[in-house]
Parts: sequence; structure tokens; C-alpha cells
Amino acid sequence: MLDLAHNRPDLPPEIARRRTFAIISHPDAGKTTLTEKFLLYGGAIQMAGQVRAKGEARRTRSDFMQMEKDRGISVSASAMSFDYNNFRFNLVDTPGHSDFSEDTYRTLTAVDAAIMVIDGAKGVESQTQKLFEVCRLRDLPILTFCNKMDRESRDTFEIIDEIQEMLAIDVTPASWPIGKGHDFVGCYDILRDRLELMDRADRNKVAESIRIEGLDDPKLAEHVPAHLLETFLEELEMARELLPPLDPQSVLEGHMTPIWFGSAINSFGVKELMDGIGRYGPEPQPQRAEPRQISPEETKVSGFVFKVQANMDPKHRDRVAFLRMASGHFKRGMKLTHVRTKKPMAVSNPVLFLASDRELAEEAWAGDIIGIPNHGQLRIGDTLTEGEALKVTGIPSFAPELLQTCRAGDPLKAKHLDKALMQFAEEGAAKVFKPSVGSGFIIGVVGALQFEVLASRIELEYGLPVRFEPTQFTSARWVSGPRDKVDAFAQANKGHMAQDNDGDLVYLTRLQWDIDRVARDYPDVRLSATKEMM
Ligand code: G4P
Repeated sequence: MLDLAHNRPDLPPEIARRRTFAIISHPDAGKTTLTEKFLLYGGAIQMAGQVRAKGEARRTRSDFMQMEKDRGISVSASAMSFDYNNFRFNLVDTPGHSDFSEDTYRTLTAVDAAIMVIDGAKGVESQTQKLFEVCRLRDLPILTFCNKMDRESRDTFEIIDEIQEMLAIDVTPASWPIGKGHDFVGCYDILRDRLELMDRADRNKVAESIRIEGLDDPKLAEHVPAHLLETFLEELEMARELLPPLDPQSVLEGHMTPIWFGSAINSFGVKELMDGIGRYGPEPQPQRAEPRQISPEETKVSGFVFKVQANMDPKHRDRVAFLRMASGHFKRGMKLTHVRTKKPMAVSNPVLFLASDRELAEEAWAGDIIGIPNHGQLRIGDTLTEGEALKVTGIPSFAPELLQTCRAGDPLKAKHLDKALMQFAEEGAAKVFKPSVGSGFIIGVVGALQFEVLASRIELEYGLPVRFEPTQFTSARWVSGPRDKVDAFAQANKGHMAQDNDGDLVYLTRLQWDIDRVARDYPDVRLSATKEMM
């Protein structure tokens, strides 16, 4: 029997068995391949290749998706649930491309742990580092998978050192690779004293496990070629001397990461990683909220929206809010309170995202992710409860780094543009600013590619061709301070002022100089580069 609640034996078993996590990696490290193997072993798909194949079929449906395919990126994040052994895994997919990092940041507020995938030949890459820093802000536990060990890879100690140095986290080997590149035969499972041998002939075959009674066991020499055995034993001895042993508490606090070595494409090392997520990954964690924190075991249901996706199915103009359950046992049809508007909301068609399709969620527990179809009432950052006025905090909104004006290609349709832009703003795909002076909208994004995606989606989903054009502004800051000071400031700087899609006041800037000038001339006015979603 697996230890389901190693850390919180007091949790109800249904909550204790949940593991909600995301995979962070640099593009090409193998996130998609690993996800696919997770789903395969979780019984959510029947054969490898299905996720990609389904992706292809879906992508051919539209130009926008065509663009996604051309770029080789995944624009939207989605959630997938599956069972593995006694665990319920909720895997929240994050877009890997840096242009979509804001979406990724928010996704990471909905998980309790992250799996960091690195390429054994490349080590820690830029995007991995960026995403890691976000995880660190929240002290998320991180489990590491070093992929592509079937190819020529870096020295094992060098990889571990690099992670320790670049990411300032202790690394403990959960397995140790034997041989490199063509010579790679498998791994020694340090945590369970087992030899795992990779089958190169069959990519979908799970490794053969051989139980080893200590390193003197003659079975080692039977299975590991002599020229690799000596190096392996030396390395393992050194690793045991130099590297810290696994400390589960330190992993849960985000100070230590266990590393597994493997090859996702060869199905190698994946099950060991999944076992590790169950064993060392955290159960659903308490959520920061105002005026009090929410604990998962509370009997009353609560949850928060971390993502909104519109038009997931072009045939049905639906909008789905992704809700992370923070506490309780949700049942379909429950009436919850939408805290921001204080209105009741009957959640009658919640969906659970199983890999192959969506299906109605009859129930959900703290830790789960459910989708709630709605007509725009639910926004990112919203909290749903059974009545208590709680608000989950810590979901950030970032100042855009690029601004452009958006104009309708057909002036007769300009009115519809308004609606389309607001919808994308609520989805979190862009910031929409209405300048105080002049007409039109200024759109702010974090990465340039988002303009292209927006233009394609507006055309595809609303039949509206649009043009994006440069503006004199480069960024925006949210304005706060004493009412009279803010009013005076806004009055004197009309040409810079705008409202964001929530009606909050922003100051559009051209250069850092603008910001410095405000700090100097209006000491009571605060300009902020982030805003917490309400
Ligand atoms: P990503 O989602 O992180 O961007 O990576 P993805 O899984 O798409 O993998 C990127 C490439 O690396 C793919 O090759 C994939 O087959 C390959 N790959 C993944 N895991 C392993 C592994 O363990 N060993 C080796 N040698 N390669 C691996 P591709 O040529 O870009 O795509 P495909 O034609 O194989 O689909």
C-alpha cells in the first residue's frame, strides 16, 4: 500500500491522494513526450502518439492553430486528470514559449508542485530558469527529470552542479545513470535499490526492474557491462559522499529537488518519476486568501479561477473558467457564491478534463481542477465559496512590455472590436487600455507573438480583420495614491492616462524617464508594474 498522506495524515483520503502539478521546461526538452507517457501510464490514453495526433487533427481546423503548429508552440494551457496507482494526478499544462509567460505564471498559482524537465545534453536553459524563479516565489516543491539520456549527455555531476549553482537549490539523485549516449543501459534506482534497464528495441516498453541487494550483489555484474560497472560504482560512491541524501521535508519546502534520469521517448524512468510524485510530492496545500487562509480539508467548498479560455470549441461559443478547488467536496449542481459580485451561481455543467475529452464532473475535491462553462461572469482571480466572503490572493497581473494600437480593418465593424477585445482581456490574453484622449484601444502584451495570435483569433472567432500599429508608448503602470493627488496627476497628464479593462487607472509610459519624472514630481502617486487580479 502506498503512503498516500505522508505529510498530512489528518487529510481525508480523497484529498490526500491528489497531486496537482505542472511541468516546467525549456521548449524541446521533452515536456510533451513526458506528458504523453504520464497519460499512457495513467490509463488516459491507449497508445503513445495519441496526444500529438489529436493535436494535429485539432490544429488543422483553423489558421490560428496552423500558426501554433508552424511555431511549434502550445498557446493555451489546459488541465488533465488521471489516476496512477492510488493517486489522482491533476496535470496542468503550461505554455512553454516565453511570450506566454503571464499565462504560465498564473497557472503556477493553481498547482502544488512542479516537475522540471531538462535536456541531459543542454542542462538548465533560459526558460527553465525563468519558470523556476516563479516557482521559487511560491516555494513550490520541484521534482526534476533529466531527459534524453539515450543521447550523448553531459556528465552527471556536471548537470547536478549546474542545477545547484544556477538555481540555488540542493539536488539529490533519486536515480543514477549507467553509461552515456549509445552506452546508456539504464539507471540505478537509489531510493529503492533497483536496477532499471532500458529496452532500446521497444520504445513503449517499460524498463525491466531488477531488485538488487546492495552494491555487492553479483546481479549487478550480470546485467551491467564490465566497462560501465566500474565507473558507475565509483560515481555512485562519490555521489553518496558529496551529495545530500533525500530529505522529504526539504523537498516539500522547496529547498531540495530530487532528480531522476531517463528518456521519455523510450518510456524510461517515467514510472519512477510518477512514483516519486506520489511519494514526495505534496498533497493539496492551503491557499492564501483574505481575510484568512483556506485549508483543503475544510468541509465547505471553495475554489478560484486561474484561467479563462474563450471559444475552446469554435462550434460552441463557450467560455470556460478553470477553477482550482481550494477546499471541500464539490458535487455537481451545487450553488456557490461568486464572491466578487456576491451573486449565487449554480454550477450545473462543470467539466473535468480527461486527456481524451472533457466529461461532466459529478464531483471534485480540493486539489482538482474543474472547468465551468459560463457567459463571462467568471474572471481570473475570482473566488467561489459556499457563502463566506473569501478572496484567494496572489494571482498576479503584469505590466505589458509591448503596446500597440488596434484598429478594425473594416470601419463598419469597429463596434464589434470593442467586444472582442474585452473578451480577450478577460481571458487574460492581453491588456486592453482605453486612452483618456482620442479613440481606439491600446493593447498591451508581454511578448510580440501575442499580437499575431490575437489578430488571428479576432479574425477567426469574430470575423473581424484587424491591424496592430505601433504607438509612442512602451509600457503601462497602474496608478494608486490619495484620491486628490491621483486626480491632480491624471488631470495634468491626460495624454498619458488610460483605463484598463477593469476600469482601473493606468499611466502609459514612453521611457523610464517618464516614470522617474512622476516619482520626482508626484511623490504621493504610486506607479506599479503589477496588479493583483480582483
Ligand atoms: P517539448 O514539449 O518540451 O517542446 O518537447 P517534445 O516532447 O516535443 O520533444 C522535443 C523533441 O525531443 C522531439 O523530437 C521528441 O521526440 C524528442 N525527445 C523527447 N524525449 C526524448 C528522449 O528521451 N530521447 C530523445 N532522443 N529524444 C527525445 P522532434 O524531432 O522535435 O519531434 P518528433 O518528430 O520526434 O515528434
